[in-house]
Amino acid sequence: MAAPAPQLVPDDSDPTFAELIAGRPHLSVHAHDGLTMEEVPLARIAAAVGTPTWVYSAGTLRRRFHALRGALDDARVPAELHFAVKANPNLAVVRTLAKEGAGADIVSEGELRLALAAGIDPSHVVFSGVGKTLGELRFALSHRIGQINAESAEEIGMISAVATEMGVVADVALRVNPDVDARTHAKITTGKSENKFGVAIADAPALYARMAATPGVNPVGIAVHIGSQITSGVSAYAAAYAALADLVRALREQGLSVERVDCGGGLGIPYRHEPAPSPAALAGAIRGALGNLGVKLMVEPGRWICGPAGVLLTQVILQKHTPSLSGSAGGSLSGSAEGSLSGSAGGSRRFVILDAAMNDLLRPAMYDAWHGIVPVGPREFVSPVSPCDVVGPVCETGDTFARNRGLPMLEPGSLVAFLDAGAYGASMSSTYNARPLAAEVLVDGDRFAVVRARQTQEALLAGQRLPEWLAG
Ligand code: LLP
Repeated sequence: MAAPAPQLVPDDSDPTFAELIAGRPHLSVHAHDGLTMEEVPLARIAAAVGTPTWVYSAGTLRRRFHALRGALDDARVPAELHFAVKANPNLAVVRTLAKEGAGADIVSEGELRLALAAGIDPSHVVFSGVGKTLGELRFALSHRIGQINAESAEEIGMISAVATEMGVVADVALRVNPDVDARTHAKITTGKSENKFGVAIADAPALYARMAATPGVNPVGIAVHIGSQITSGVSAYAAAYAALADLVRALREQGLSVERVDCGGGLGIPYRHEPAPSPAALAGAIRGALGNLGVKLMVEPGRWICGPAGVLLTQVILQKHTPSLSGSAGGSLSGSAEGSLSGSAGGSRRFVILDAAMNDLLRPAMYDAWHGIVPVGPREFVSPVSPCDVVGPVCETGDTFARNRGLPMLEPGSLVAFLDAGAYGASMSSTYNARPLAAEVLVDGDRFAVVRARQTQEALLAGQRLPEWLAG
C-alpha cells in the first residue's frame, strides 16, 4: 500500500489567531504593541526577561478560581477547592490562589513544602498519590495536614506505622477506582480498573472497615479521581459519583462513619475547539449524586484553573526549508508569500525553529497535544499564513510542537506564544539537552514580575561531581 502523501496544507479546521484570542479574555492584540496579556505587551516581557519564558495572568487565575467556586455555590455544593499543585507549582501562582481561598492537593513532600510556603493552611492540604514514601508521610503528619488519600492496603499499613511511631492519628480517605472510562488520553486516564490508582470499589468496604480498626488511622471518607482533560461531558463523572454514593451508603449501613467525599479534578479545557464541560455541569453531577449525603465535599482541579492563564513565550531562531516529497508547494492560505520568501520554486517543507523545545513544553511530544501558537508581533498577527512545522532545537523528531500549522513568515527573533500553557507546562519541564529551565513571569494588571529566575548555565552544572579517579 502506498504511504499517504504528506499533507502540506494547514488544517483549516484550526481556529484562526483572532478566534483563539477572542476566547481568552486576558489576551488582546494592539496595533502597536501586538499580543498583550492583561495590560502588559508580551514583547516587553521578552525584552526584559528573554525567552523562552512562561507568562501567567494573575487576573485569570483569580477569575477562573471564582468561576469554579461560583458554579459550586450556585449548585449548592459547598465544596472545598484544593488546587492540584502539580499543574503549576510556581510559588506566586499558588500564592495567588491561596489568597483567594484555595487549599492544595499535593503528591510529594516538595509540593507540600511549596503549598506551605505559599501560605496554605496545612488543614487545607490533601496528600494524593499511589506511592508516598515513609519519609513523605512523616513530613506530612508532622505538619498535621488535613487528609491523606490512601490508595492501597499496603499504604494504609505504612500510614499506620508512621502515625503510631509519631503518636498521632492521621485523617485518611480511601481512594477508590470506580472503573469508569473518562474517555481522555490513555496516559492520563486514572479511573479504569487496569490503572494503578485507588482500590477496587468491591474491596472498599472491607478495607474501610479495616482502616477503622487500624491504630493511627482515622477513616474520614472516600476519594476518587478518574482522569484529566475530561472533555466528553460529565457522564463519566456522574457514573463515578453514583458509585461513590452507593459506597457511602453501604459503609454507613455497616456502621462506619463517612464524613467526606473528595471528588477529584480533571475538568478539561478547550485547547483547540473541544467542547469542554462547564464547571456548572460538573457541579450539577456532584450535586446530583452526592448532594444529599450530608458529607463534606472537596474538588481538586488543576488544569481548569491555571491552564488558560499561561502562555509560553518563545522566539524564532530561524526558518528552514527542506524539499518536500510530494513536490508540491502546498496550499498556502490567503495568498501567502511563502513561495517568494522561501525562494523555493518546487515543493518545500517549512520548519519554524523556536528557542523553546520539548524539554520546556512536553505536552505535544507526550500526548500529541494541540496548543494554539500565535505570533506576538502586530504585523505578523494579521499576515497571511501558510503551513509549517513548528519545532524546537532538541535532537529528536519528537521535538515537534505542531505539523502543518498555519503561521505567517517569521523572521529570526520574531516572538510567538503557545497558548494554554499554564498547566503541566513549566511543571513538566526538564533540562534535556542541557537546556536551562525557562524563566516564569506573573502579570497582574499593568505590572509584571519574574517569579522564577531563568536557570543559569552555572546552576545546570552545579551538583555534578567528578569522582577523584577521573579528576585532574
Ligand atoms: N487530583 C489527582 C489525584 C490527580 O492525579 C490530578 C492530576 C488532579 C487532581 C488534577 O487534574 P486536572 O484537574 O489538572 O486535570 N500531565 C498531564 C496531566 C496529568 C494529570 C495528573 N493528575 C497533561 O499535561 O495533560
